[in-house]
Amino acid sequence: MKYGYFNNERKEYVITNPKTPVKWTNYIGGLDFGGLIDQTGGALLCKGDPALNRIVKYIPQLPASELKGETLYIRIKKNNEYVVFSPFYVPTLTPYDYYECRVGNGYSIITSEILGIRTEVTIFVPMDSQREIRDIKVTNISGEAIEMDIIPFVEYTHFEAMKQFNNADWVPQTMQSQCINEADGKRVIKQFAFMRKDTNVNYFTSNYPIASFETDRKIFLGDNGYGTFMKPLSLFQEELSNYEALREDNIVAALHKMGQLEPNETKRIITQLGQYTDFDYEMTEIEKYRDEKCVDEAFIKLENHWNNYLSKFQVKTPDEDFNTLVNIHNPKQCMTTKNWSRFLSLYQLGLGVRGIGFRDTSQDLIGIMGLCADESTEMIGKLLSIQRRNGCAMHQFYPLTMEATKGESGEMENRDDFYGDDHLWIVQTVCEYLKESANYDLLNKVVPFYEKDSKDKPLEEATILEHLKRAIEFTHDNKGRHGIPLLGFADWNDCVNLPKTAESIFNANLYGKALLEMMELMTHLGDEEIVNKYKDYYDEMKIAVNENCWDGEWYLRYFDHEGKPLGSKVNEAGMIYTNAQSWTIMSGFADEQRATQSLESLNKYLNTKNGIKLSYPGYNGFDPNLGGVSTYPPGAKENGGIFLHSNPWVIIAETLVGNGDRAFQYYQQINPILKNDNIDEFEVEPYVFPQNILGDEHPQFGLGRNSWLSGTASWVYQAATKYIMGVRADYDGLIIDPCIPKAWDEVSIIKEFKNATYNITIKNPNHISKGISRMEIDGKEVDTNKAPIFADGLVHNIVAYMG
Ligand code: NOJ
Repeated sequence: MKYGYFNNERKEYVITNPKTPVKWTNYIGGLDFGGLIDQTGGALLCKGDPALNRIVKYIPQLPASELKGETLYIRIKKNNEYVVFSPFYVPTLTPYDYYECRVGNGYSIITSEILGIRTEVTIFVPMDSQREIRDIKVTNISGEAIEMDIIPFVEYTHFEAMKQFNNADWVPQTMQSQCINEADGKRVIKQFAFMRKDTNVNYFTSNYPIASFETDRKIFLGDNGYGTFMKPLSLFQEELSNYEALREDNIVAALHKMGQLEPNETKRIITQLGQYTDFDYEMTEIEKYRDEKCVDEAFIKLENHWNNYLSKFQVKTPDEDFNTLVNIHNPKQCMTTKNWSRFLSLYQLGLGVRGIGFRDTSQDLIGIMGLCADESTEMIGKLLSIQRRNGCAMHQFYPLTMEATKGESGEMENRDDFYGDDHLWIVQTVCEYLKESANYDLLNKVVPFYEKDSKDKPLEEATILEHLKRAIEFTHDNKGRHGIPLLGFADWNDCVNLPKTAESIFNANLYGKALLEMMELMTHLGDEEIVNKYKDYYDEMKIAVNENCWDGEWYLRYFDHEGKPLGSKVNEAGMIYTNAQSWTIMSGFADEQRATQSLESLNKYLNTKNGIKLSYPGYNGFDPNLGGVSTYPPGAKENGGIFLHSNPWVIIAETLVGNGDRAFQYYQQINPILKNDNIDEFEVEPYVFPQNILGDEHPQFGLGRNSWLSGTASWVYQAATKYIMGVRADYDGLIIDPCIPKAWDEVSIIKEFKNATYNITIKNPNHISKGISRMEIDGKEVDTNKAPIFADGLVHNIVAYMG
């Protein structure tokens, strides 16, 4: 079945049926203030930290039909009786004549027609003001006059989101609401709790008089609390009680009396939900956003911002679905993961388990580098400030407090107490930044290391360049018996947690790639001594990998604490792992013959029509020596599931060996847009990549899970733009090195690069996959496939011929 369509002109996905197989979401605002909106108007909002400062109570585990966080009720009078419904379908489930939810860039617009009322609600957070705007337009399309009230509704959570669920004593006693009456019938309805540090105050207001309000959930539902959100009994009385809650479950329901709407008449109400520290300041902002013109301008500003972001890289190929993903939805997802890390989604709720991840965010930042590189620098500094002095990194941090933790579970004690990969990712991040921006000053910026004295003062600080060097040295100094880097608690694969002293071939490759990046950078900076040192490190690791980790037809993945291999033909389960093959090519360690052979093995054992599995066969039952991976059934998540994050690495590897047809086949296998016409098996949104799809060892093969916040976004974007399209920033120019399907005649790309526009056409007259035989820049033949840095603010036309 189909639940919507792509509208490329408006850069939106339009959901046409609210009963999607699972909730389909969109993001508004950012971590400073914002959150997610589902297709029935439910919202999960926070300010600064979804764990420590959450605003709206959205419980994803509730059935799809239940209210979650926010809604809008409309009540009309028919035959002198009230009829109450929600234009969002949930929670009243009133049959609708028309419904659509336009999933846009930084906004959602829900339109419905129910009982003769057309309602259009635009939900967004302005670019430069921290508030959720709900711009509500109601039109009477019934043909006769209708008397109507509208009642926006919010259910608050306690600010400390975790406590909301595990401290039912403290939380209810601290929640309070109060109403501030303004002169003209408008009201600001506050909700607050005394906190140990500051007192946070949420508020709801609108640009319309609020006739009456409710702040206590029990009274709102009615019948001594036994009423329902489907039919809140208080809405059947003329007025709400104006009770200012002193404790318990705080909500706000604000009754706006619209009076009579004549046929085809439209009325507009703008609501604001926010949080303030300075009331006087906030009141001036509130007044501003009560003005329709200001809201219209804020919306246009938001649209312009996104259009500008997306315009920095645009492609035109013979494949429309590829174009749609590369031009709109994939870069949007890159920005979203960059904003939220793995901190707030329907699957990751920031409840003390996941903060901003060092590994994840380092990779997410690469995803936006070609589009808005400078947005990464602040976060690069924050990440490096949780790097330890010995070069490895804390695994994650909470942005509100900058407190960092080593890992996700208390299990680390029995394993090495570091992740073997975290610190290496940021080397690529910084190098990509420098290639796109040329702001070499960043390398000299001084950033503290994580360790602090008793007064919370950092014990040491160093330049960013020094931080990167420490990262390299940590891995150089922490190798195992085969000369392969130690695994630590885990590498990229969080769930394979082998006892202390295990080795990771993934870490070997990531180290190899980091060394290649550092060698390029230091060559560019003219430091030959360090280039030679890193070359020795690189050669040493290349030998260790090729002498110890080739299994005959593919590369091994780990050595355990006893030196036994995992990801080998000798293993009954976990015989072959994807990342060991792709990354040995990305690191440049595999020679041509081994690269081709390992990619063939990967294709034979790991590929499916829905994407490439992470490993095969799955482990069947918990094994304490393997850790987390064996808690999943075979075919799920890291245990032989299709872990999408790993797929683009194979696509990149295929382009590196010149196999454009297979690279594109792998790309399209996971392109969510292609699931749109028959999505019941896949279930999740067709406009973003999920983190994983159940593999073919699982009875629900093809089911997508954990949408939105996944490193898949960044890496598929890189695979498409830098490797299939082949347009890569370098320190001294823009490389054009496509690897495309042979059938394609021509592709074109527009890339903004260092203050110039590169208008690139690639012609493929001989129908090959890789290789540029000649290139023209602004009509003149050049003898390279690297365009220079123009930095002149002009458009330059480049034609590259494959051959
Ligand atoms: C999701 C985590 O966020 C990421 O850090 C990890 O690399 C993958 N799972 C694979 O385990």
